[in-house]
Amino acid sequence: MALDEAALDTLGLSTLWVRRGGALESGSAADEGAATVAHEAAHADDPSMPSATPRREAEQNPDGAAWDEVDFAPVGSAPVRAEARPVARDDDVATLDWDALDARVSACERCRLCEKRTNTVFGVGDRAADWMLIGEAPGENEDKQGEPFVGQAGKLLDSMLRALSLARGENVYIANVVKCRPPGNRNPEPDEVAQCEPYLQRQVALLKPKLIIALGRVAAQNLLKTDASISSLRGRVHRYENVPVIVTYHPAYLLRTLPDKAKAWVDLCLAHDTYRQALTDSQAAR
Ligand code: URA
Repeated sequence: MALDEAALDTLGLSTLWVRRGGALESGSAADEGAATVAHEAAHADDPSMPSATPRREAEQNPDGAAWDEVDFAPVGSAPVRAEARPVARDDDVATLDWDALDARVSACERCRLCEKRTNTVFGVGDRAADWMLIGEAPGENEDKQGEPFVGQAGKLLDSMLRALSLARGENVYIANVVKCRPPGNRNPEPDEVAQCEPYLQRQVALLKPKLIIALGRVAAQNLLKTDASISSLRGRVHRYENVPVIVTYHPAYLLRTLPDKAKAWVDLCLAHDTYRQALTDSQAAR
């Protein structure tokens, strides 16, 4: 795999995998524990680095969101009562092309999230991409700009892509499970996810990605229809709409939990290997 050393630097991983270890073999990164310890040691004196202490409650990240990878409900997020909204009648979503789907999402009133949004956040990137990245829901910046992952977390996501020699918009498509911002950046409610799912399913059907990366616990649990913890979902290949899925941490979480960047890199290596395998399989099937 070609490595972008600058991107690994941004991820805080170059010390571990490039300068010390030479070229990366994904298997060589298997010793997460040792890597994490080495990494923490390398930054122990750097007060600008985020605290290595895992936090057990949701809190504001630089995007103003509460993305947390621990398996607890965010503090202060009162459960939202399901409203008696009529079941959506636009059951032709599975027949729409990209532009019609985008227009349908823009006008969507399937759930209460439409009431407070500034913009819907449909998705961005190459509509013929092999790689699809799926986050949870738009935050404040995304709601303002109508594009996913535009804040600090988006910058880290771009570095993660660069480390894989990928770039936003070049063989990469980025979307969210939910297309409208949940107020206060609370987690999306199950009924909101359910109303939005046909849009994501159609995006996947149109894109036909070779690989999906689920970014964070909420995205992974909703895509894979499970309550399993992110740590138990990482390190394995799952499926969504018959596409291989790799689970990794949400970039907003990684911004404040430095040691888990090493684990995220292991996930990206698994994603890369899984992608190569999917390419080989599709060539063999021709
Ligand atoms: N977090 C997400 O999950 N999605 C975005 O678009 C932005 C932040």
